[in-house]
Amino acid sequence: MYYIGIDLGTSAVKLLLMDSEGSILNVVSKEYPLYFPNPGWSEQEPKDWYEQSIAGLKELTAEFDKSKIAGISFGGQMHGLVILDKDDNVIRPAILWNDGRTVKQVDYLNGEIGKDKLSEYTANIAFAGFTAPKVLWVKENEPDNFARISKMMLPKDYLAYRLSGVHCTDVSDASGMLLFDVKNRTWSDKMCEICSVKKEWLAKPFESYEKVGTLLPEIAKELGFPETTVIAAGAGDNAAAAVGTGTVGDGACNVSLGTSGTLFVSSKTFGVDKYNALHSFCHADGTFHLMGCMLSAASCNKWWMDEILKTKDYGGEQEGITKLGENHVFFLPYLMGERSPHNDPAARGTFVGMTMDTTREEMTQAVLEGVAFALRDSFEVAKSLGIKIERTKICGGGAKSPLWKKMIANIFNVKVDVPVAEEGPAMGGAMLAAVAAGEFKSVEEIATKFVKVKETIEPDPELAAKYEKRYQQFKEIYPALKPVFQIITK
Ligand code: XUL
Repeated sequence: MYYIGIDLGTSAVKLLLMDSEGSILNVVSKEYPLYFPNPGWSEQEPKDWYEQSIAGLKELTAEFDKSKIAGISFGGQMHGLVILDKDDNVIRPAILWNDGRTVKQVDYLNGEIGKDKLSEYTANIAFAGFTAPKVLWVKENEPDNFARISKMMLPKDYLAYRLSGVHCTDVSDASGMLLFDVKNRTWSDKMCEICSVKKEWLAKPFESYEKVGTLLPEIAKELGFPETTVIAAGAGDNAAAAVGTGTVGDGACNVSLGTSGTLFVSSKTFGVDKYNALHSFCHADGTFHLMGCMLSAASCNKWWMDEILKTKDYGGEQEGITKLGENHVFFLPYLMGERSPHNDPAARGTFVGMTMDTTREEMTQAVLEGVAFALRDSFEVAKSLGIKIERTKICGGGAKSPLWKKMIANIFNVKVDVPVAEEGPAMGGAMLAAVAAGEFKSVEEIATKFVKVKETIEPDPELAAKYEKRYQQFKEIYPALKPVFQIITK
């Protein structure tokens, strides 16, 4: 049998075809535009997601026996707000996870309702990218749109709805809405009331590996897939990536270097970060996880390469970087503000420490190191909670760079295990579909069977010591500049 994983990302949808043995038969990627209508705002058109996914499904399966397709599932960019009217028309473009417009609503939730209450109801506090503050923003700024809402959904759930006709979500993605009682894996009535969300707008939450329905007959016909093709609920992209890299069970870690950068720690038991810097969410394997998310990771390097250096030769630019741990240039990677651990939409990208002899290579190196240092900030929070991390998996576009992986190993001072399949969320989606279709008993079972490590990068004690010193210096920069960011973004 064949299973398809759809990773609904921010720059593109990535689709993966997998067989029952876990072999990847084909991978296809289809891009769509991302709109920044105001500084710090970030939107996409749900119809682009759907159209490119359908085009991608056709291309993915063109050379394969479509009668063997048994299941489809998803890893989706999290927290996005998609609103539909009573006739299922999309009311406005989706407001994405890296959108920072909700400063006022976040202040209201964290300040007036209070972090303690939010944490009690949902296990999390409000961050600008989360879904609930966006609903309040629409209510305040677009009352006509607000009045038309009949259904609310997350990005990948829009795709599941279009493919199956079932209004559904899954517990991992729902966790990032700030409307979900993570501990009890159900909607929070109190939060819905606080955010003016009607319960009938929300979908039924499924476990990620559960079947929500089958492919709609007209779509099955268009694609040439069986009408019995199972649609599984799927997961937020980080939980799906964790499944795809075998980050399941207790205390396993995954670092994702995608458009966002995340540190993901799986846990069999529910727990809340007492500092509220890490998110406490449901995992796609039926358990829980803690996660730190930085808003711009591989996207910092993409910005630096595409927009500033005007080159597509990412590998070539990294070849001249040899003096690891000795760079006197630092980069704060806050090009879209920052989520974990600073929770500061006003933070901005910054280079510090250049001199007349600073080179292009050192600036590029600073961008890569800045992302790794900023991820280490979340790693430090996890360690302060008593979580012991000696090794981590890695995935995402940035993980294709041997240099970046070496930086992560030495800046974190942990072993980095590189899985054979680089396509974390798409692989995880396909695996969730295989569990939903009944081919495997559990997510843990399929992860143990399918995920293989192809290489382990060991930290080098001398380099790790040099990076330790640099990280201690990096840590001082954001607090010093925080007041400046407030002034320059006024
Ligand atoms: C996680 C988050 C990002 C997006 C990126 O909290 O906001 O990782 O899911 O797609």
